[in-house]
Amino acid sequence: MKLSKIDFMKGTALALLLVAAVTVLAGPRVQERREAQEKTILPENYFPDGAGRDLIFQGCVQCHDLRNTVAQRKTAAGWKRTVDEMIWRGAPLMADEAETITKYLAVSFGPDKPIPEELKKKSTGSKH
Ligand code: HEC
Repeated sequence: MKLSKIDFMKGTALALLLVAAVTVLAGPRVQERREAQEKTILPENYFPDGAGRDLIFQGCVQCHDLRNTVAQRKTAAGWKRTVDEMIWRGAPLMADEAETITKYLAVSFGPDKPIPEELKKKSTGSKH
């Protein structure tokens, strides 16, 4: 009776160990795979050529990446509001630079441009 109880406990302990080992081994791998997947989506790759592109890489990357920019579609007025807000927040842009960026965003990420499927899934906190 005593022995079998110990055996049972041993078995339980072994099972727990196994679960722990699988969790430890599999956990980070799943995480890594997810991170690797996300890294393949570089917001930088979604900016079409045009005046304003370089300005964005200079003036819009200090505080956040550009995922939330390429994953959204706004009207010209909407992008103007966003750029104005970023300047208010501290984006280092001259008035003419802001205008160039606003026009570029309106043309590149206007409501008529479809959002790439892979960006849709990743976008968080976007306002509609
Ligand atoms: C001084 C820091 C700073 C700079 C520079 C900056 N942003 Fe932002 N931006 C923020 C903060 C803070 C938020 C709100 C929190 C968040 O979403 O990370 C934000 C949010 C956003 C959002 C999501 C909210 C929305 O209105 O759609 C977009 C898009 C965006 N920024 C684009 C830009 C663009 C384009 C530029 C360059 C013109 C820029 N940001 C420069 C600080 C900055």
